[in-house]
Amino acid sequence: MIDVLLGLQWGDEGKGKIVDFFAPDYDIIARFQGGPNAGHTLYVDGQKVVLHQIPSGIFHPHTDNLIGSGVVLDPVTLLREFQKVEAMGVDPRKNLCISERTHLILPTHRALDKASELSKGEEKIGSTLKGIGPAYMDKTGRNGLRVGDILDRNFTTQYIRLRLKHQKILDSFGFREDITDWEEEFFEAIELLRQLRIVNGEYHINEQLRNGKKVLAEGAQGSMLDVDFGTFPFVTSSNTISAGVCSGLGVAPQKIREVIGVTKAYCTRVGSGPFPTELHDDTGELLRKTGNEFGATTGRPRRCGWIDLVALDFACMINGVTQIVMTKSDVLDAFPVLNVCEAYMIDGREVNRVPYQMQKTEIDPLYTPFEGWMTDITRINTYEALPERMKTYIAHINARLGVPVRYISNGPGRTQIIDVQKG
Ligand code: GDP
Ligand code: IMO
Ligand code: MG
Repeated sequence: MIDVLLGLQWGDEGKGKIVDFFAPDYDIIARFQGGPNAGHTLYVDGQKVVLHQIPSGIFHPHTDNLIGSGVVLDPVTLLREFQKVEAMGVDPRKNLCISERTHLILPTHRALDKASELSKGEEKIGSTLKGIGPAYMDKTGRNGLRVGDILDRNFTTQYIRLRLKHQKILDSFGFREDITDWEEEFFEAIELLRQLRIVNGEYHINEQLRNGKKVLAEGAQGSMLDVDFGTFPFVTSSNTISAGVCSGLGVAPQKIREVIGVTKAYCTRVGSGPFPTELHDDTGELLRKTGNEFGATTGRPRRCGWIDLVALDFACMINGVTQIVMTKSDVLDAFPVLNVCEAYMIDGREVNRVPYQMQKTEIDPLYTPFEGWMTDITRINTYEALPERMKTYIAHINARLGVPVRYISNGPGRTQIIDVQKG
């Protein structure tokens, strides 16, 4: 069976840490969508590591890791990440495999991403510029190159053909940067890729499932960045929700058991786009400082605000979330008042739904204030021992979402997590 772990907000919910925590209970950790736009932070023996392409189970030698067909893969990022992981004493050749259907991110995809964002000016998406949009466009446009193609003798010819197509578009954007260095790195990285375990991802995972193995699908980005259901057009280019697991790994929906949704105890967003509960004041600044809210991929400051139960309720609905992991709860330790967004006021009316068009809609969040717990919770390891005011905050979230908060993460460290059911 497959369990799914994914973000319920706009990304960076702490998925990497939680996958690393759960990994020993699974045989395979599989990424099913997204690419190097993801930045998943783990602490291994106290050392911080950020993973972009490699699944977050890599530091567990008995857990296999799959980069699935729905992912877009930049070989250059993979090579750099390989070196980083190797330097930490782990050989990813042993417990990493890659689906042959995974689409490749070419240097020109990165250039196209940059050119496209520049052309949008004020209306830019705030893309990570990793080439995600252009690579997925080549997939749906049926032009892209896939990992399996690198084993073909004609790979370079195929590459040149696609590169020429891209060049025409880059010329129309007036993009003049020299990307020769990027191409050199790319072909070096292709050499590494050729030495790795390239598998038929669909047969691989289904065989494992038939043999009773347990799979954890690791989401990237968050539900509100989903290309279909997020705050379009300020979204990423893949299905980040649970449905993406079936199309991204080639598994049937009946195989999915738990859908574990990860949310921060507050909310952040990096890049442009609507964010109803965003705080532009000192409280927002304090959240950013206390939570160290700077992007793991781009280093950009993250926008910060209160938890949004309208958006979370929507995310729980479209994903079929069965349990919630609440992360970064310790960041709220010293806030005397915590606001929880219950509904949106739009045109003088109270609305409980995420509107179709958030960008052009004036949204005023309706808040219920809660008393903060004003206690350091970072060393607490049982639910019982948590402050009563925090339990009230969590009980309110449970009741509104109709889904239980099952785990509470109270620090970035590997062991800073509380299982609510253990009491
Ligand atoms: P991901 O993309 O969802 O994996 O999340 P990121 O790694 O981009 O961002 C989450 C950040 O929060 C990282 O710096 C983590 O080390 C950190 N983090 C995760 N869980 C907690 C937590 O419970 N408390 C605190 N203070 N930090 C956390
Ligand atoms: P993880 O997996 C937060 C955001 C970008 C931008 C938009 C589109 O670490 O949670 P893209 O590069 O996909 O074209 O960017 O999506 N974005 C993320 N924000 N966490 C991520 O991943 C993100 N991946 C993309 O900032 O607004
Ligand atoms: Mg991240």
